[in-house]
Amino acid sequence: MKRPVVLGLETSCDETAAAVLDGDHRILGHVILSQDVHEVFGGVVPELAARAHLQKIDAVVDEALDQAGIGLDAVDVLGVTVGPGLIGALLVGVTWAKGVALALDRPLVGVHHMEAHLFAPSIEDPGAHPPFVALLVSGGHTLLLHVETWGRYTLLGRTRDDAAGEAFDKVAKLLGLPYPGGPEIESLATVGDPLRHELPRPMLRGNQRPGDDDYYDISFSGLKTAVVGLVEPLRVRGVLGVERAHVAAAFQEAVVDVLASKTMRAVEATGCRRVLLGGGVSANRRLRDEVAARLGSGGVVLHASQRLSLDNGAMVARAARFRYDRGEVAPPDLSAEASLPLPGLTTL
Ligand code: KG4
Ligand code: ZN
Repeated sequence: MKRPVVLGLETSCDETAAAVLDGDHRILGHVILSQDVHEVFGGVVPELAARAHLQKIDAVVDEALDQAGIGLDAVDVLGVTVGPGLIGALLVGVTWAKGVALALDRPLVGVHHMEAHLFAPSIEDPGAHPPFVALLVSGGHTLLLHVETWGRYTLLGRTRDDAAGEAFDKVAKLLGLPYPGGPEIESLATVGDPLRHELPRPMLRGNQRPGDDDYYDISFSGLKTAVVGLVEPLRVRGVLGVERAHVAAAFQEAVVDVLASKTMRAVEATGCRRVLLGGGVSANRRLRDEVAARLGSGGVVLHASQRLSLDNGAMVARAARFRYDRGEVAPPDLSAEASLPLPGLTTL
């Protein structure tokens, strides 16, 4: 049987993205349009996100098909993110995909956004396959998983409050930096001294043991509060401008330390020889370098894709292909879900 050409669509948050993968998972077309309407608000405005997706989705798909050098009729399978995410934003992608699937009589596959992130590195790196420990860090989620095989995910830990990307975005806002805050903090931190200010490592203590509730779990709200406590006196003294880079560096260091430490615990407990980093925060070089450094020369290999770490259509197409190959095609009444459990997820 012919290996299908897949069109993947992503509209769960503030990126309108589409990509075309050929039957061997090669990227033929790849377009990400980051909405800038949210910048002045310092965060994503759901209503504006939905509207912007609606305005741009046709052009984004057309551009991806143009790059691939094919028409819509050459697409064999459609994949679309159905959740979790902003409901209005998701509905734009899902409704568009349902309409096209129906009109062209093509199968449609609903994709879980975090499963798509999990598949992203494997598109360009054939070594990024299970078994592995996965740290998924995005704007809405922070998950530490043991993945024995595609489709079977054991939850080791998750954030109890803010997601890692959300923490970056909130701290950036405190420091007067634009949205999205992650890349802003990362670049400011390169000229800061991470040791000048001390910040806590929430839920990270040396005496935690496997089986403890907080051994793998993560929390960022206390760290954010600590940053507020650090920044306000600096602002009052009129020195925040000169201290900003140092605060950014100290904050990034605290997040990286917690994430890398929890990941190493998972590597030790599972005996996995591979670690996968995914989601927008995995674009952070300091995080990738720190995990790589802690893995050292012990033979455990790190897999992460800078290019495909942020929301994109290629990861949706790849995850859709996995589900499609297993015969999982969406019913005609497919809908979007703002919160949606990862399929195949079990807890320890
Ligand atoms: O996966 P993603 O594109 O969208 C969601 O699924 O949420 O992740 C977006 C998040 C944002 O919070 C953004 O600030 C963060 O990823 N991010 C970063 C970096 N690039 C993006 N965080 C830290 N360092 C970065 N370089
Ligand atoms: Zn994402």
